[in-house]
Amino acid sequence: MATRVRSYSKINLGLGIGPVRADGFHGLLTLYQTLAQCDVVTVTARRLEGGGGSRISLTTNHPFVPRDGRNTAWKMVEKALERLGGADGPLLAEVAIHIEKNLPVQGGMGAGSANAAAALLGLEKELGVALQEAERLELAAAVGSDVPLFLVGGAVLGTGRGEVLEAMPDLPPTVCLVVVPGVGVSTPAAFKAWDAKVAERGTFVGGAGPGVEEAGSVIGVGLTSDPVPDTLMELSHVYSSVFGLEKVKTDGLKPGTSGIVPGHDPAEAGQYLEKKQGGSSGSLMDLENDLAESTLLSLVRTGVENGLSNDFESVVFPDYPSLREIKQLLMGIETEQRALYAALSGSGSALFGLYRSIADAEAAQRRVQARTFEFGVKSFLTETLPRPEYWARMFAG
Ligand code: C5P
Repeated sequence: MATRVRSYSKINLGLGIGPVRADGFHGLLTLYQTLAQCDVVTVTARRLEGGGGSRISLTTNHPFVPRDGRNTAWKMVEKALERLGGADGPLLAEVAIHIEKNLPVQGGMGAGSANAAAALLGLEKELGVALQEAERLELAAAVGSDVPLFLVGGAVLGTGRGEVLEAMPDLPPTVCLVVVPGVGVSTPAAFKAWDAKVAERGTFVGGAGPGVEEAGSVIGVGLTSDPVPDTLMELSHVYSSVFGLEKVKTDGLKPGTSGIVPGHDPAEAGQYLEKKQGGSSGSLMDLENDLAESTLLSLVRTGVENGLSNDFESVVFPDYPSLREIKQLLMGIETEQRALYAALSGSGSALFGLYRSIADAEAAQRRVQARTFEFGVKSFLTETLPRPEYWARMFAG
């Protein structure tokens, strides 16, 4: 029996980049939000007896997705088999992975990372085994910085290199228009461009808050991120005030830390939410909806006032001015259907807008479609996917 797993996507509702850490990664502070738009990962697996190694194969409908050990889903399965075998060596299995791609490759929507998380969950189900939550997260982080996010889902604060996670109260399902330009942005290349920009300025600068340059936070490339740069602190203050947190954990911005607070278990998420709300007696969904409605508006208002943005925009937009234009079209500032918020997702090239209604999002889609760009542009309507729905809809049957 094959197991079909929905491999959802994410956007970043703001992303601040810190300096390069001792391990070569950049400190990050980002608010992830999962979306309903998904790939489908199908895993078929059976245990093998006797000698020889495991046999992994991968097929996909997308011509540019690697079909070998370079694929994140393949890497995840390899690591999981090693871990599942324990001290006796890797668990031997024949594993076939099929990835039905609907999401953009190199789009900044975490599609490859989500494929890895989905492959892990599919593998566990097929073999009738389950890793400990902490082990899953650890393996996920070893495959990619965004992979652990897909083992939590919903609105999630990411620090460290993006893998130190804190589950946030969810936003209500919100209409989201995603625009996928026919150009991919490589994440490592975008980070390099960021480093070059920082080096050129001679100071650590970011788009996350006002008065950054005056703050005199001079942290050069190659230094570790202690103390936490003011840009990231600024962004963390925005999140703290929006989510009513006393303080956003910034330990993860220092090298060598990892960890997670509340996991994907909805009950656990509920307790967490109640704790944040001082012990409300409402159901998780009621509580989340009330809270989320104001959270979204609050996020937008406070965020925009504080210059909440995605630092990658400042290096990606100069290379691709059309992407800046697409963001403006998504915003629709001069129109009655203006977006609640619009930004580049991750390192791009996908951009997204959040809207009050489907009609507003469709108006934005028409604005984008009316323009001709130097590359093809696709777009799709989807919605933000809160944590309980993320897990309820995961297994495609
Ligand atoms: O972890 P992931 O495989 O997604 O990262 C891809 C590349 O992006 C890394 O090899 C690194 O060059 C860069 N990266 C980074 N800082 C991060 C995340 C990724 O420099 N926080």
